[in-house]
Amino acid sequence: MDFLYQDIGRKLLFALDPETAHGLSLRALKSGLVPRTKARRASRLVVRTAGLVFANPVGMAAGFDKNAEVPDAILDLGFGFTEVGTVTPHAQEGNPKPRIFRLADDHAIINRLGFNNKGHKAALARLKGRGRRRHGPVGVNVGANKDSADRIADYRLGIETFYDVADYFTVNISSPNTPGLRDLQSRENLGLLLKSVCDARAARLDAGAHYRPIFLKIAPDLAESDLDEIAAETLSSSIDGVIVSNTTLSRKGVSQTSRASESGGLSGRPLFERSTIVLAKMRERTGSEFTLIGVGGVDSAEAAATKIRAGANLVQLYTGFVYQGPLLAQQITKGLDQIVKRSGRASIHDLVGDDTRDWASRPIPV
Ligand SMILES: Cc1cc2nc3c(=O)[nH]c(=O)nc-3n(C[C@H](O)[C@H](O)[C@H](O)COP(=O)(O)O)c2cc1C
Repeated sequence: MDFLYQDIGRKLLFALDPETAHGLSLRALKSGLVPRTKARRASRLVVRTAGLVFANPVGMAAGFDKNAEVPDAILDLGFGFTEVGTVTPHAQEGNPKPRIFRLADDHAIINRLGFNNKGHKAALARLKGRGRRRHGPVGVNVGANKDSADRIADYRLGIETFYDVADYFTVNISSPNTPGLRDLQSRENLGLLLKSVCDARAARLDAGAHYRPIFLKIAPDLAESDLDEIAAETLSSSIDGVIVSNTTLSRKGVSQTSRASESGGLSGRPLFERSTIVLAKMRERTGSEFTLIGVGGVDSAEAAATKIRAGANLVQLYTGFVYQGPLLAQQITKGLDQIVKRSGRASIHDLVGDDTRDWASRPIPV
């Protein structure tokens, strides 16, 4: 299967435009054409954080399954968790096509999708229809409509709408493709936003509902002083963790200059260093007990282990899946299990933060 995907599946998909290829991948997952692989059940890889239990620390990042069409098929590929969305209250088209570009030499993608999605109602119906299968946490990543008059209200509505079907929430204020969205990362706005989403959860808890952790997803294009403010606001709120990071506006590390001029967010290998430095700096600011999820350029067990040693409790990936194919989660978890074994530690958790100091001491690339 690995060989098949690498040599035939990937060639076929890469002959298509990226958005068509993505649609085909979703259809293949929906129809069961992609064979199920057993999730690695190794006690060394189990992660308990933010009140949730993960069979392994490798998750599918937001954006792959925007409309909650295939969460269980993704879990069946051996991922420890998956995140649907970003979903906005109302359906929206996003930006004009083409809006996804492969930078194959760099194992990277530039996208300027702009939160194309079918809206809350469609995703809610799908998540409600999942039945009783629960192979791992499924998070819901919530956002705001481009033309919204009150963006904070959109996030709050996301928490309220999906409260009974989400295992966790991600508040995504870091997409570069919705004008002004990243302004929510500024201190004053962030304080108001975090209070609003935590109040929405508190109302559900008062009504007897289960606790659902809420994570904040940030950009990697931040200065040290921004990180100070985000860490302070996050720690003084009831938010449970931070996801570091979304795509970058930087083009550093991109060799394929012809495509680098496309506007949008860059993901994949060239994002690895920047997002890992920001992750470690966030770990230093939030202390060892806070939940951090590392995202950006993870496409191997070694890269996942590096993120974890830099300070991540869990990792997520998207672009690596496009380049390496459906067996990637399985390959990474197998490799991680061996890495933990070789380290002589009892659990993957014991590796978290081993190299935080080293990574945090590096400057964020300009
Ligand atoms: C095509 C595409 C669409 C994405 N859509 C979303 C999204 O809707 N919401 C979000 O929070 N992140 C989105 N992302 C960002 C990813 O979740 C992730 O943070 C980023 O791609 C870095 O990880 P990677 O290098 O493993 O891809 C998207 C990424 C790509 C490539």
